[in-house]
Amino acid sequence: MSELQTLATFTQAEPVDNGTSVTRIVFSADDLRARTWLKELAATEGFEVRDDAVGNIFIRWIGTDPQLPAVATGSHTDAIPHAGMYDGTVGVLGGLEAMRALKRSGLRPRRSIELVMFTSEEPTRFGIGCLGSRLMSGTLDPVLADAKQDKDEATLAAVRTAAGFNGPLSSVRLEPNHYHAWLELHIEQGPMLEREGIPVGIVTSIAAPAGYRFTITGLGGHAGALLMPDRRDALCAAAELILSVEKHTLATGAIDTVATVGTCDVHPGAVNSVPSRVVLQLDIRDTDPTRRESVMEAIRCDSEKLQQCRKVTITEELVNADAPAQSSPHIVQLLEALCTEQGIPYKKMVSRAYHDSLFMARIAPIAMIFIPCRNGVSHRPDEYAAPDDTTLGVHMLASVLAKLALE
Ligand code: GLV
Ligand code: MN
Ligand code: MN
Repeated sequence: MSELQTLATFTQAEPVDNGTSVTRIVFSADDLRARTWLKELAATEGFEVRDDAVGNIFIRWIGTDPQLPAVATGSHTDAIPHAGMYDGTVGVLGGLEAMRALKRSGLRPRRSIELVMFTSEEPTRFGIGCLGSRLMSGTLDPVLADAKQDKDEATLAAVRTAAGFNGPLSSVRLEPNHYHAWLELHIEQGPMLEREGIPVGIVTSIAAPAGYRFTITGLGGHAGALLMPDRRDALCAAAELILSVEKHTLATGAIDTVATVGTCDVHPGAVNSVPSRVVLQLDIRDTDPTRRESVMEAIRCDSEKLQQCRKVTITEELVNADAPAQSSPHIVQLLEALCTEQGIPYKKMVSRAYHDSLFMARIAPIAMIFIPCRNGVSHRPDEYAAPDDTTLGVHMLASVLAKLALE
């Protein structure tokens, strides 16, 4: 818990949150400081440390049979603007603590146990989430990845090189049999566990996320002089498009369909200038990708109508459209057996948030352990996970890693 507190100090200052929030954008000074600190913690413990070309960090406890595929765990330490201090970090520092505790207990793992800290699980800087795990699982083309740009038009290639991560991104990819198993500990980020008074969630599947960028182009002009009947206001069209997203998402009637327009860039962005161009980023997810696509079709239909009646042009750019992931029945069964043995109440559940495990599932058998977070709050400064729940999550992680490492 004290390491979580220390990690939370590596943050860009956000005065509006009275110092309670964490903002740690990939390859920012704070992200780099956090990486150095994490690697020092691992080295102190005698674990082997390396990073790859995109900055994924690997912390390995060598097993007695080092040729065997390792058992792995991990998560991310980057944080969206104005976030809390538990999202991702619990899986990284919890993973490290699980490994240290197993070492203290005298375990001699047959398979190596490896902790992974992924680069940019959050999409804040380059517009796409799970950069590190996408590249590791061969889900994202390395050339396209290197060409991705941040808001200052700096490419990933340039930014990672400046941060000291060199070499071709193609080298980040791991073979499907590289890991024997993958297990990630994470806060639930939703209200189910707390509401039902259950301390542990065992994730059986992860919902399918997609991301799109819409650019709406209209006609700018003087806010006083451009007459209302002559306007082709890009922001007014964007407002209608956002409401269309909400309408069609609600219309599925399914609790698992969710969509969010979380950014809106208005050009030229002056109070006395009619908006000429707006860029929206849409995040849409569902456990059923076909239903997700049907919502997109309905939004496209509205977009066509908007272009005609508001005389604007709307272009749509696909950022990512991913499939859902299923957990490994074997790892789920190990987790359930542990809960039953130790009398720990648990609930099998879907993860509506995405995680690096979504992509690790493409190259390894995976599962996730969820712990409750207060009021189901996440991606907010008041995100909170209780020490007792965190401890239990780490205990479960350690126990099952140990079992897997002896297989
Ligand atoms: C991860 O942060 C997500 O947006 O699900
Ligand atoms: Mn997050
Ligand atoms: Mn996370």
